[in-house]
Amino acid sequence: MDNFTLTNKKQTDDDRGIQVDLSKDGLIPRHIAVIMDGNGRWAKSRGNIRLFGHKAGVDSVRDITEACAQLGVEYLTLYAFSTENWGRPMDEVTGLMQLLVQSLRSETKKLNENDIKLLTIGQLERFPESCQRELKEAISLTSGNKRLNLCLALSYSGRWDIIQAVKKLAHQVKEGKIDPDDINDELITSELVTADIPDPDLIIRTSGEFRISNFLLWQLAYSELYITNTYWPDFRRNELYEAIRSYQKRERRYGKTSDQLQRNV
Ligand code: IPE
Ligand code: IPE
Ligand code: MG
Repeated sequence: MDNFTLTNKKQTDDDRGIQVDLSKDGLIPRHIAVIMDGNGRWAKSRGNIRLFGHKAGVDSVRDITEACAQLGVEYLTLYAFSTENWGRPMDEVTGLMQLLVQSLRSETKKLNENDIKLLTIGQLERFPESCQRELKEAISLTSGNKRLNLCLALSYSGRWDIIQAVKKLAHQVKEGKIDPDDINDELITSELVTADIPDPDLIIRTSGEFRISNFLLWQLAYSELYITNTYWPDFRRNELYEAIRSYQKRERRYGKTSDQLQRNV
């Protein structure tokens, strides 16, 4: 499946060449997670309202999703709405919900044509009924797809995720199903909402903020971070390639020494 149509643009030979080089030069991250930040400032710098920036951000989502699928990335997780974002002015929250519904309606068919499976993590039950319905439908329509898993973090926060996992484990202890001493790394991982998703290899944050903002707190223990000043609506595939190039130059030591890694011990 070579003819991706998410952006309605035919891939140029130059772009394909860059992707081939990237794949030859090093490992393509299996899971990329993105904190898509800076929509509001992007709009403000153009004398426009914040929602204008969120709308423009959808074009970046399309381009980055398409490029990830072409590159063979298996999981792309996009932080689209945090638990804390519920505290924003009501008109912005409502506008974001409408944008989500509109985008699901207009994009689901294209996700299917491109073999992309939609997933979500977060407290979906906090969303309006209409939004939940639209999401469930898009998830079910794309459930058989295999090329790329596109995971939207919606009403998500890392602390919320850890709390709901701890609660489930506490219940299992209470019911005598597990012993408190059984609780380990794997068991906690298995109760997080990301249980079926590998930890991110690369986390990208746009708009120059050096913080995690309650994203995948447990899961990013050993993720490589890439922070760029670019606002999300301006973040397109060429910067994604830069982030991957930066990732490919890193040495992921997981607490070991460089020497140990080279000797493979
Ligand atoms: C990110 O952009 C999108 C969401 C959090 C929904 P922002 O809306 O946070 O934009 P800035 O950071 O205020 O510029
Ligand atoms: C993080 O951006 C959340 C999303 C991108 C969805 P925020 O704009 O909410 O983060 P802070 O407030 O700058 O930390
Ligand atoms: Mg922000």
